Amino acid sequence: MEKLKIGVLISGSGSNLQAIIDASTEGLPVEVVKVLSSRPDAYGIERAKKAGIPVCVFSREVYANPEAADARIVEEMKAAGAEYLVMAGYMRKVTPVVLNAFPNRVLNLHPALLPSFKGAHAIQDAWDAGVKVTGVTVHFANEEYDKGAIIAQEPVRVEEGMTLDDLEAAIHTVEHELYPRVLDWIAEGRLQLDDDGKVRISQV
Ligand code: GRF
Repeated sequence: MEKLKIGVLISGSGSNLQAIIDASTEGLPVEVVKVLSSRPDAYGIERAKKAGIPVCVFSREVYANPEAADARIVEEMKAAGAEYLVMAGYMRKVTPVVLNAFPNRVLNLHPALLPSFKGAHAIQDAWDAGVKVTGVTVHFANEEYDKGAIIAQEPVRVEEGMTLDDLEAAIHTVEHELYPRVLDWIAEGRLQLDDDGKVRISQV
């Protein structure tokens, strides 16, 4: 099978980038052609380098003009041959410059069951609300933060006696399995965004 070429956008630890790299080593038909970090100190940069993936790092100054930053992202990612952009802990909002260059081809990972607990502190917010079930969402990015069409969700139970750290760990474990699974669907051509704005996954 032809490998799906993706560019991954990160800002931090990059554990989801690592999960994708590891899954592709183990047969996921995906090739990470470039990693872009919005922060020079992101640990994910080391992970990418170790895997031999070209990395591009933007400083804070680059984002002074978000559209110009995104134009550079498009340039870098297109030059690397990326077909999809995969946000994995990327803490910047993408503008229409990126969204129009990769229409319905920008994915995001969110550590809660959208539309609940949007925003940058989803795990903490779910914890503070005392929910008994939260989880992970993979969705298309669009112009409204955390509001694009939902592709996949997995629940995570908040068990009795769990700490916030336990919950975070449980969410990350689910993320590391779910994101590669969604990429597999895309590589297999099983994912379809219908006119009603809903995503359908065809069976093999
Ligand atoms: C993940 O929890 C993701 O859902 C959120 O940021 C975190 C990124 O973690 N958007 P990592 O950088 O992949 O380790």
